Formats: sequence, C-alpha cells, structure tokens
Amino acid sequence: MKIAIFGLGYVGSTAAGCIASQGHTVVGVDVSQAKVDALNAGRAPVYEPGLDELISTARAEGRIAAATELTDQLDDADLAIVCVGTPSGVDGAHDMSYIAQVTRNIAEALKPDREKPLTLAYRSTMRPGSCENIIWPIIENALGAKASVAVELVYNPEFLREASAIEDYFNPPKIVIGTLGGKPSANMHALHDGIDAPVFEVGLREAEITKFVDNSWHAVKVAFANEIGRVCQNLDISARDVHAIFKSDTKLNISAYYTRPGGAFGGSCLPKDVRALQYIAADTGSATHLVDSLIRSNEAHKHHQFQHAVQGLEPGAKVLLVGLAFKLETDDLRESPAVDMARKLLEAGYDLDIYDPQIEPDNLVGQNLGYAYAWLPKIDGLLVDKAAAESGAHARVIATNRLIDTLSVAADKVVDVSAIP
Ligand SMILES: NC(=O)c1ccc[n+]([C@@H]2O[C@H](COP(=O)([O-])OP(=O)(O)OC[C@H]3O[C@@H](n4cnc5c(N)ncnc54)[C@H](O)[C@@H]3O)[C@@H](O)[C@H]2O)c1
Repeated sequence: MKIAIFGLGYVGSTAAGCIASQGHTVVGVDVSQAKVDALNAGRAPVYEPGLDELISTARAEGRIAAATELTDQLDDADLAIVCVGTPSGVDGAHDMSYIAQVTRNIAEALKPDREKPLTLAYRSTMRPGSCENIIWPIIENALGAKASVAVELVYNPEFLREASAIEDYFNPPKIVIGTLGGKPSANMHALHDGIDAPVFEVGLREAEITKFVDNSWHAVKVAFANEIGRVCQNLDISARDVHAIFKSDTKLNISAYYTRPGGAFGGSCLPKDVRALQYIAADTGSATHLVDSLIRSNEAHKHHQFQHAVQGLEPGAKVLLVGLAFKLETDDLRESPAVDMARKLLEAGYDLDIYDPQIEPDNLVGQNLGYAYAWLPKIDGLLVDKAAAESGAHARVIATNRLIDTLSVAADKVVDVSAIP
C-alpha cells in the first residue's frame, strides 16, 4: 500500500519505520523542517532504539520520504495515518488545534472524484466523539456529498511505549479499529497483516475512549501501589513481600475479575475493610487519596443506579426489586447495595415489593438482623413470594443479580442494574 503519515513524532516516526519495513511505501508529512530533513537523510526524526536502522534501510530502498507541505501525496495513497500531537489544553482537555489543522489540510488536498476511497486513520489520542463532531464535519465541509465515497474514517489507537516502541508496534496487546458502525476496513486489515493480537472492530467512540480507559487504569494501578507502599513503609511492613503476595494472586488480583462495570461493591468485607484501611492510613499519615475515594465513589454509583432504575417512573408506581442480598445464593444483607436501592425507592415514594427467596426475616440474626432492620424496618411486609412477583402488577422490575433469570416477568419492564450498561 502507499501510506501517508502525518506527524513524525514518537508515534508517527515509529509507525513510518515499522510500516516501511513491512514493504509498504511511506510518505511522512510534518511541519517541522528538522524532522523532515532527518528522515530524508535516512535518520530517525526522534530517538527510539532500532528506528534509525529501519528508516535508513527503507530510505536506501526508496520506500520512505518526507515533506513539510502536503501537495499531491494523497492522490494515489491508500491510507493516511494521523499522529499529530494532542497536548493538554489550559482546561485539561486535549488541545485539538493540530488535529483540526491537519484534517483541514487533508480535506483540502483530497480530490472528491478519487478512484478509490482514502482510508483516513487517526492515532492521536483524542476525546470520544472527536471523529464524528470535529473531523467528519471538516471533511464534509470540504468534500460535500462526495465525502462518504472519498474517505473511509477510522480511529486506530496506538499502544506503543517509548523506548520499546518497535517491539510494541509488532507485538501490540490488542488492535482496535473504530469505524462508523464498526464496519470492517480492508485497508486496516492489510496494515495489520502478520501482527498477532486480538482484533476489536468497534464504533468510533468505543475506539476513541480506549486510550483514556487504559491510561487511567495504569495510573490507578501506580497510585494504588504507591499508597499501599506508603502504608507499609509507615508501619514498618515489607512492601516487597506484600507486593509479592499481591501479584501472585492471578485469580482475583491481577486478572479480569472485578473489572466489569455493573453493580456497586458491598457485602460484609469490602466496605468494612476499605474503611479500616482508610483509618490506618490516616492514623499513620499515609495520605491515601485513592483509597479514601473508594467508598464515596461506590455511594455515587449506588445513587446513579437508583436514578437509572426509576428513570421515567412516577413516584407511587409499583416496583419489584429482585435480589436483596449482596449476592446470589446468600441471605447476607450486610452493606448490600440492593438494601440501599430498596431504601432509596421507599424514600422516593415508590410502592415497593421485594423478591429474594433466600431472605427469611425470622432467620436473620446478629449483625445481619441489625443491618436489615436499621435500613429497612418494614422488611417483613415488603418481601413477596414468586407468585406475587410474577403477577404482572409491577410497572418496573429492578434486578440486582441473576435471580431475575428464575422469574417469569415482562422483559420490557426489567432494568438490570447488575448488567454491563
Ligand atoms: N508517545 C507515545 O508513547 C504515545 C503512545 C500512544 C499514543 N500517543 C498519542 O499519539 C499522538 C502523538 O504523540 P507523539 O508522542 O508522537 O507526539 P509528538 O509531539 O512527538 O509528535 C507530534 C508531531 O506532529 C507534528 N505536527 C503538528 N501539527 C502538524 C500538522 N499540521 N501537520 C503535520 N505534522 C504536524 C509535530 O511537528 C510533531 O512532530 C498524541 O495524541 C499522543 O497522545 C502517544
């Protein structure tokens, strides 16, 4: 393929060298004369181990060149990849001026009556919605009705890390290809030919948010590790040993477990132990800002779930809550998010029934009993049996766990707050 790369920084230069080494013809465009001169002299425009060799070989074989101006380079190009910078703006959002500028240059250089559409793939990290709300209108403005036949718009995030960028380019953790409606792109398939990684073909916004999710998660992990490290240091505990124990657990700790959006956390252990760690951290001056935010974040999520569950439903309406315990197959109500849901429903004036066959008020004892009656003093009168739950009398059915699968109720009445939204 003939591929144009816009922006010859860390991402663009690496892409240029790696793509050219696969036998494609590459033309790089950058506003920096120094970067363009470096590439045309067969040198990498940025320092990255191994990149000089890839670029000098490709240059010697006539498969790579660079320019500061976009002229006719796109006329016979199959693919254009945009890697210009998106630095932080004054308000913390990405500064989109380089993206807007380069998109306008590309749109103005494109001939509307191209023989084949140009696949225009963005790799710069930018806010979800940028492709549809900024980039596409600029292209449409320049090309009018011919835009959708002249351009195939793609968002293709980059997962390389500087200093191991070439290794990462050829061995990415995943390939994400975002298009309008998640339609497969033949040129993007050809670009990734021979690269072995899971491929996700998704919508533009899902692809755009990927880097935000990944990078924020990495930041959470680093901040959490350092908070635990601080607590250990202040308590004269070996953080090295604690880390060894923590990371050895690939079943619950270093795994996909507990990463799915859906229900809030609850039960007799998580909230209690998080609060206790907050206390220990405060007591030792460990300043664990991330750990300190967890309970508040969880409370915010419970309220969000309540608002979502009653959306469009007038107070006074008859509501069935399915699942009251903190999880399936237990009668433990301690700090169950479903108890908070029930309380919020009652406080807002809904006519509430609760179905959970594991809960038998006469069997509740100790802390479980205290918690249940402290938050739901009228629990005895709220619980209904299966026949009453299935009677069809409820305007809405709120499911908190898979107990809903055992009930026969109208699917259009169900809001499942335990499911991925
Ligand atoms: N560096 C990384 O490890 C990494 C990894 C993944 C994603 N990203 C994202 O990729 C994007 C690029 O990152 P980078 O580190 O390569 O940035 P960079 O600052 O090193 O390079 C950006 C390049 O774009 C050029 N440029 C600016 N406006 C231009 C225009 N109108 N036409 C042509 N060239 C133009 C600049 O001269 C510069 O050389 C950013 O959005 C970044 O967040 C970076």
